[in-house]
Amino acid sequence: MKTMWKRRSGALVLAGSIALVAGGCGKKAEEKGGEAAGEKAAEPATPATLDPAALRAKAKALFGTPPAVYENKENPQSEAKVALGRTLFFDPRLSKDDTISCNSCHKLENFGVDGEPTSKGVGGGRGDRNSPTVLFSAGHFRQFWDGRAVDVEEQAKGPVLNPVEMAMPDAGAVEAKLQAIPGYVTMFKAAFPQAGDNAVTFDNMAKAIASFERTLNPPAPFDAWLGGKDDAMGEDAVAGLQAFVDTGCTTCHNGPLFGARIYQKLGLVEPWPSTEDIGREKETGKAEDKFFFKVPSLRNIAKTGPYFHDGKTADLAAAVKLMAKHQLGKELDDGQTGKLVAFLGALTSEIPAGFADAPERPADGPVPANPAPEAAPAPAAAPEGAAPTPPTGG
Ligand code: HEC
Ligand code: HEC
Repeated sequence: MKTMWKRRSGALVLAGSIALVAGGCGKKAEEKGGEAAGEKAAEPATPATLDPAALRAKAKALFGTPPAVYENKENPQSEAKVALGRTLFFDPRLSKDDTISCNSCHKLENFGVDGEPTSKGVGGGRGDRNSPTVLFSAGHFRQFWDGRAVDVEEQAKGPVLNPVEMAMPDAGAVEAKLQAIPGYVTMFKAAFPQAGDNAVTFDNMAKAIASFERTLNPPAPFDAWLGGKDDAMGEDAVAGLQAFVDTGCTTCHNGPLFGARIYQKLGLVEPWPSTEDIGREKETGKAEDKFFFKVPSLRNIAKTGPYFHDGKTADLAAAVKLMAKHQLGKELDDGQTGKLVAFLGALTSEIPAGFADAPERPADGPVPANPAPEAAPAPAAAPEGAAPTPPTGG
C-alpha cells in the first residue's frame, strides 16, 4: 500500500494514488490503538463482531478530543476580549447598511450555519459557496473551503469587507464606525489595554471576534463515549464508527475534528458530478490544485446541511454515499449508510445554556456614522438558559 505525502503550501497532502482501504494515513495510529488496548495489532477490514474496547482504543488514536478553547499565543484569550468578540459577532453595524452580522450567516442558535445552500449578504446578493459552521473552526489547519486564510484572526477580516457579505468599503470605515459608538471604545480599551487610545482598530476587531470563535467548541456524545461512557452512543452509532473506520473515511477525516487537517481532491477516485468550482487552483494558480478543497471537519455535520462547498446536497445520507463513491470508489447500501449517518449524529455538540444568546449591544453614539433611526435602546440580552433570541442581524 503506497501512501505518499507531499508538502503543498505548508500543508500535508495525500498525493496521487492513495491506499483506499481502512486506515490509509491512519495506519500508524491504528497500530498504536491496537497496542493500547492490548489487542492483536492487525484486524480484518470488516470484523465479524464488534469489539467496543478495541474500537475505543483505535478511535482514541485516530481522532482524540479537541480542547475546550483553541488558544493562540499571538492573540491571548481574555474575558474582556471574548465578550467584545461575541458582541461584534452579533452586531449588524459591522455591515454597510447595518443589516448583516456574522450571526446572520453563522447562526449560533443553529450550530453556526444558516441552513441555506448559499447565504444572503448586504443587498441580497449571494456568494457561490456554502457557509460552513463557525463551531470548531478555530481548530482547522486553514480557514475557508479552499484554505485561503491561515487562521480565524485573518479570516474575520474577510467578510466585513466582502462586497457580497457585509460590504464595508475599507478598514478605515469600519474603525470610524466603531469609534463613533462610545460603548465599543470602552470595550476595545478593556480588551486591548496596552493599546491605550488606539485600541479601536480593524485588526483588533478581528482579534476579538477570533478570540470569541476560539471558545465555540462544545463537546458531543462521541467525546463522552471516547472518554469511557459506554451508553453515550447508541448501538447504531458505535457500529457506524466501526464502518467509518472500515470504509476508509478516516483516510481524510481524522483527528479530533474528523477532518480540517489536509487538502484533498474532490473526486479523487471518480470525478465529482459538478466541476464549476476549481477549489484551490483559483487561489494558487497551480493546475495540480484543481478540485482540491480542505477536507472539512465533520463535527455537527448532521446539523450543518446542505452539504459540500456548493451546498447542493441537502441530505446527509446522500452526501455520505457521494463521498464513498467519489473519494473511495465504494458503493454503500442503505444499511451501511444508515450506520454511518447514525455515527455522524453522535458528533452533534450538546449546546450549553446561553451559548447562542445575543449580548446587549452598545448604543449608537450622539453622532451616528449612519443616520438611521437607531437611537432606541437595544433590547436586553435574554436571561441565561432562555430560548435563543433571534440574531440582531436578521
Ligand atoms: C453573507 C454571509 C456571511 C457573513 C455575513 C459572514 N460569513 Fe463567514 N462564511 C461565509 C461563507 C460563504 C464562507 C465560506 C466561503 C469560502 O470558503 O469561500 C464563510 C467562512 C467562514 C469561516 C471559515 C470556516 C471554515 O470552515 O473554513 C469562518 C471562521 C467565518 N466565515 C466567520 C465569519 C465571521 C467572524 C463573520 C463576521 C465578521 C462572518 N463569517 C460573516 C458566509 C458569511
Ligand atoms: C480522499 C479524501 C476523502 C475521503 C476518503 C472522504 N472524504 Fe469526505 N470530504 C472530503 C473533501 C475534500 C470534502 C469537501 C468537499 C467539498 O469541497 O465540497 C469532504 C466533504 C464531506 C462531507 C460534507 C461536509 C460539509 O460540511 O458539507 C461529508 C458529510 C463527508 N465528507 C463525509 C465523508 C464520509 C462519511 C466518508 C467515508 C465514506 C468520507 N467523507 C470520505 C474528502 C474525503
